[in-house]
Amino acid sequence: LVHQFQSSSSLSLVVDSLNLSKQIDDLSSFSDSPSPSVTRILYSDNDVRARSFIKNLMADAGLSIREDSVGNIFGRWEGSEPDLSAVSTGSHIDAIPYSGKYDGVVGVLGAIQAIHVLNRSGFKPKRSLEVIMFTSEEPTRYGISCLGSRLLAGSVSLAETLKQTVDNHNISFLDAAKSAGYAKNEDFSNVFLDDQTYSAFVELHIEQGPILENEGVSIGIVTAIAAPASIKVEFGGNGGHAGAVLMPQRNDAGLAAAELALAVEKHVLESGSIDTVGTVGILELHPGAINSIPSKAHVEIDTRDIDEKRRNNVIEKIHESAVEISKRRGVEILEFKIVNQDPPALSDESVIKAMESATQVLNLSNKKMISRAYHDSLFMARKAAMGMIFIPCYKGYSHKPEEYASPEDIANGVKVLALTLANLSFN
Ligand code: GLV
Ligand code: MN
Ligand code: MN
Ligand code: MN
Repeated sequence: LVHQFQSSSSLSLVVDSLNLSKQIDDLSSFSDSPSPSVTRILYSDNDVRARSFIKNLMADAGLSIREDSVGNIFGRWEGSEPDLSAVSTGSHIDAIPYSGKYDGVVGVLGAIQAIHVLNRSGFKPKRSLEVIMFTSEEPTRYGISCLGSRLLAGSVSLAETLKQTVDNHNISFLDAAKSAGYAKNEDFSNVFLDDQTYSAFVELHIEQGPILENEGVSIGIVTAIAAPASIKVEFGGNGGHAGAVLMPQRNDAGLAAAELALAVEKHVLESGSIDTVGTVGILELHPGAINSIPSKAHVEIDTRDIDEKRRNNVIEKIHESAVEISKRRGVEILEFKIVNQDPPALSDESVIKAMESATQVLNLSNKKMISRAYHDSLFMARKAAMGMIFIPCYKGYSHKPEEYASPEDIANGVKVLALTLANLSFN
């Protein structure tokens, strides 16, 4: 049956690219920063508006909608055997400050479009199909990446932590979630997925790197997702007057942070592998006045690798450096917290096969590749056979306003996704 579907109807897979492009543009208008940049922070007014926009599109696609207590949104197309584990797809629509229109968005709007594509072709699923919009894949507001999918995957520690988590303005996760209409019940363990819920999960995403574009390949088939980690460090010193306190009397927390940032780069480079990366994306000084010696410095470090051990080794070295710097400079380490230290994830052979055969039916070139960025798929892999479809993006740009993917590349991704879902629905 699936074979028949694939060979006979691949020509009738019609993507409404005009509409999809318009949806991407419309969604980007729900932003806290000016176009072309997008800033959409968890549970902000714009996030809530964007959620309504997505739910309307899900309803238009004939999906039945459910939301859990942190606002993961599920749109279901009931299959002919609704008691079987469903096949799911989806991504996120939250956007880090001053980012672009496509990260995550292509995997949510593209998934809804894939449902339309299948519907138009006359396909009827056997296993139910579900589109998921995950809450807060980005760590922007509460410092926790893949918040929604991490919980779905059953993170007991996160369910507990969320009861006390606050943002930079001291607004608790609970209050923020409530203001967006969620967290009616404070027990977040009700978000955890049952092991039988999904047989497979597939995420469509822009590559966020330059390989597909450089090599002129249409589709990336992700075989593994690199292991991410993040660390928060806070140094404390005496501060004081920038003119009056002479250099030998200082213990400048800001300089300790600056040294640590350089140490991160050094340890990452010393790993000897091009696959090891480290970034200090947040460095804040207190009180933040030109004529005041920093009495506090807050550093956030992101480090990743396809090799978990090597990444953990970098974390260890960063810790040793923090201790050494604090001793030598006479500053205190007020906090050294490993926020997350996640293992990598592997795509499932069955999903890889389904994605590959979809590209073959559609006559699209493909390339197997590793995802260096993390995605909700990293956590969904714990609950279902996982796979990811990458499409090219302009110069590999991502997490900046210049991010772009062409309507043609997006349409290719949507078709591959549609065929993959169809195939897995009969698996
Ligand atoms: C996700 O946005 C990542 O930082 O990889
Ligand atoms: Mn992102
Ligand atoms: Mn993303
Ligand atoms: Mn991401």
